[in-house]
Amino acid sequence: MILKGKVALVTGVVNDRSIATAIARQFKEQGATVILSYQEPLKDRVEKIAKELDITDLYAVDATNEEQVKEMFESIDKKYNGIDTVVHAIAFAKKEELTGGITDSSADGFLLAQHISAFTLITLAKYATPLMEKRGGGSIEALTYIGSTRPVPNYNAMGVAKASLESIVRFLAFELGPKNIRVNSISPGPIQTLASRGITGFKDMYNGAVSSQFLKRNITADDVAGTATYLASDFSTMVSGMIIFVDGGFHCGTSYTNEQ
Ligand SMILES: NC(=O)c1ccc[n+]([C@@H]2O[C@H](COP(=O)([O-])OP(=O)(O)OC[C@H]3O[C@@H](n4cnc5c(N)ncnc54)[C@H](O)[C@@H]3O)[C@@H](O)[C@H]2O)c1
Repeated sequence: MILKGKVALVTGVVNDRSIATAIARQFKEQGATVILSYQEPLKDRVEKIAKELDITDLYAVDATNEEQVKEMFESIDKKYNGIDTVVHAIAFAKKEELTGGITDSSADGFLLAQHISAFTLITLAKYATPLMEKRGGGSIEALTYIGSTRPVPNYNAMGVAKASLESIVRFLAFELGPKNIRVNSISPGPIQTLASRGITGFKDMYNGAVSSQFLKRNITADDVAGTATYLASDFSTMVSGMIIFVDGGFHCGTSYTNEQ
């Protein structure tokens, strides 16, 4: 029970496959009080998942709506007198931005991906900070992907948004460090979720991933949840500004094979 006594907000649950669902489940198993936020149209689905996970505190919040984010944290503060952990598991790009090349990007689509997938981390951090200060510190976590630094077919605007997100993580880690707030990102290998299936060619990438991963199996949302739990816990007290890869070694980038 390494999260006993901690209060955590997990964003980004849409269904059973969501990385956020696995994180919420492990946080609960490790003793945390878990709060979920979700997009309003997903209410019925998310309520069903919350029931399964025995989570009762839910907020319908569009992360691009600053007023909604502010009100959510005000309400959380009233109920829990602060917060320890916030997980940002939010990403979106229009289908047409996730096909073809970067020169096919539209300015609107590019900016939308940046707003939803990167800027919202700043908004969440801004309103979570006073609540974390009340607790003497906290942990903010974001989900990124290696397409931030390496060109990945069809990932385009989302890759640039992830580069922004990782940079935001470092700026936040720098700014909030004196308040004992740690800010990190987790970079998983491909996992089949609603968001990832919107990327053209994702299935081939997913199927091909095993051979280039040192550990020879696909990543699961539970693998990611383990790292998220570590980052939320007091086992990572001096870890900040990191990108932690949960990709079976893929990020090492060797062109050699370790097939035996
Ligand atoms: N699945 C993968 O292979 C993979 C790999 C690396 C990183 N990630 C990242 O993990 C995170 C979670 O994605 P997932 O793969 O679990 O997919 P998912 O589709 O289950 O989750 C994406 C979530 O983003 C939320 N979202 C989108 N726009 C929003 C908005 N305006 N306000 C609030 N929420 C909004 C959706 O409601 C959804 O819950 C994303 O940041 C994604 O880029 C996923």
